[in-house]
Amino acid sequence: MEKKDIDWSNIGFGYQKTDKRYVSNYVDGAWDEGALVSDDTITMSECASVLQYAQTCFEGLKAYTTEDGKIVTFRPDLNAQRMFDTAKRLEMPSFPKDRFVEAVDEVVKANAAYVPPYGSGATLYIRPYLFGISPVIGVKPADNYQFRVFSTPVGPYFKGGIKPLTIKVSDFDRAAPNGTGHVKAGLNYAMSLHAIVTAHEEGYDENMYLDAKTRTRVEETGGANFIFITKDKKVVTPKSDSILPSITRRSLMYVAKEYLGLDVEEREVYADELSDFAECGLCGTAAVISPVGKIVDHGKEICLPSGMTSMGETTKKLYDTLTGIQMGKIEAPEGWIREIM
Ligand code: PLP
Ligand code: COI
Repeated sequence: MEKKDIDWSNIGFGYQKTDKRYVSNYVDGAWDEGALVSDDTITMSECASVLQYAQTCFEGLKAYTTEDGKIVTFRPDLNAQRMFDTAKRLEMPSFPKDRFVEAVDEVVKANAAYVPPYGSGATLYIRPYLFGISPVIGVKPADNYQFRVFSTPVGPYFKGGIKPLTIKVSDFDRAAPNGTGHVKAGLNYAMSLHAIVTAHEEGYDENMYLDAKTRTRVEETGGANFIFITKDKKVVTPKSDSILPSITRRSLMYVAKEYLGLDVEEREVYADELSDFAECGLCGTAAVISPVGKIVDHGKEICLPSGMTSMGETTKKLYDTLTGIQMGKIEAPEGWIREIM
């Protein structure tokens, strides 16, 4: 298969239309058989529940070209499970998990010419999503839904690749204590837009959100979980019921313990202990692991000892091991890699 003529090493994290996407409709209480289609547009009622009450959720995962030329995805079963859980929380019909994984396979296969080559630094980002398509005017769930999967080749989420980021402790909240922070609802991202635009205007790369109730504990950013490395090389990640259970973070904690022999801890992390850490990183499918060099907490600058020029030593080991597993250079734990072609 001939690859598309794309300057793979210089693409950013943006949308580029690819050839095929998957669509399945939920009508009369059941999902139809689904199909790949060429049309990238959607026609719906002006009163669709997604448009009026933001009844929508999504997932994000990537397809990689491995060192030996295969195309694989990374733990798609966990994305299927998370969308299943999200759909329940949003009163939407869950898309069957096995069909979710198969739909991702189909989309990757159909767009194989857009999967960036090994070593290019780019990947094919896959976006499954599910939304209410039938009209509602009283506040209630829709009757009909659509599940879709599209893909787009992407480069690094943060401009500058792995240059350490400067982030601020935000005055905005991302998630309420009994809200939807733990699921991947579109509304979580809509309400973070003002906070991220404001942070960018102030010269920061990202926001660090604190817990909304006490504003003392570290939660996550708008699109990634945190990992911290202590001065004695323990890997620490915040525990909270209102953050998204990142697949990257869960994988990294396993890699830290089982591949690198490091101590790991998932616990409450307090904002006033940030200056004790040696390294900090943002982790997620899009972010992979993006190092943080500086955290600004209301004028107080916390400069991580790992500095502003490169990734900290332990963060780098985690990054190399995780990406090594994803790209087929390091043997993966059972069930982590799904070979597509
Ligand atoms: N946290 C939020 C709010 C996210 O949107 C994402 C991205 O999916 C993550 C964390 C990272 O999750 P994952 O590693 O499963 O991509
Ligand atoms: C991802 O990492 O896949 C995400 O969904 C984060 C983001 C682009 C919002």
